[in-house]
Amino acid sequence: MNLVNLWIYLHDSAIGTLVRESSPVYATVETMHAIGMGVLVGTITVVNLRLLGLLKRIPVFMLVNLLPLIWAGFLINACSGSLMFVADAVKISQNRIFLTKMGLIFSGFLVALALRRLVFSNMAKWSRGGAIPRSAKILSCSSLCIWYGAIVAGRLTAYFQ
Ligand code: HEM
Repeated sequence: MNLVNLWIYLHDSAIGTLVRESSPVYATVETMHAIGMGVLVGTITVVNLRLLGLLKRIPVFMLVNLLPLIWAGFLINACSGSLMFVADAVKISQNRIFLTKMGLIFSGFLVALALRRLVFSNMAKWSRGGAIPRSAKILSCSSLCIWYGAIVAGRLTAYFQ
């Protein structure tokens, strides 16, 4: 089965048809996508701004408590986004803005992994008040650009069919 056949299969599946043809179901899925995005990008914003040296009243070692929220937001987004994708798989899979958004999400994921290695695997240092390395600041700045870029690309997807 090549990819186009897979997209046709998903589009015509019971779940694809349900999400596409039922306005309440589509609206619910889209609302979940907005909630997931709020939790994901909202939390990422707090973590990255702190690593950039703002929000100084939050101790850096406390940021680790926020990481599960990032995963929760991402999970909600991935599930709701996949349902919206399946509903219109043939068209969306060809949409360059959507593919750009997926590329941004993948890059955001890689930057998050790098930050985890650089900052979050070394909690003892932060509890002693160590200085945030320049590389962590560059990664944080890139992370903010990437995730806000993903929001813009997500919003524009509908306008470039
Ligand atoms: C993780 C996997 C994700 C998938 C598979 C996915 C998929 C989708 C799909 C299929 C749409 C509908 C596009 C359309 O028909 O116009 C959409 C909308 C959107 N997505 Fe995602 N998405 C994901 C994650 C994200 C993330 C992480 C963000 C933000 C950082 C995001 C932001 C948006 C926005 C802003 C919209 C437009 C919503 C609206 O107009 O109501 N998505 N997404």
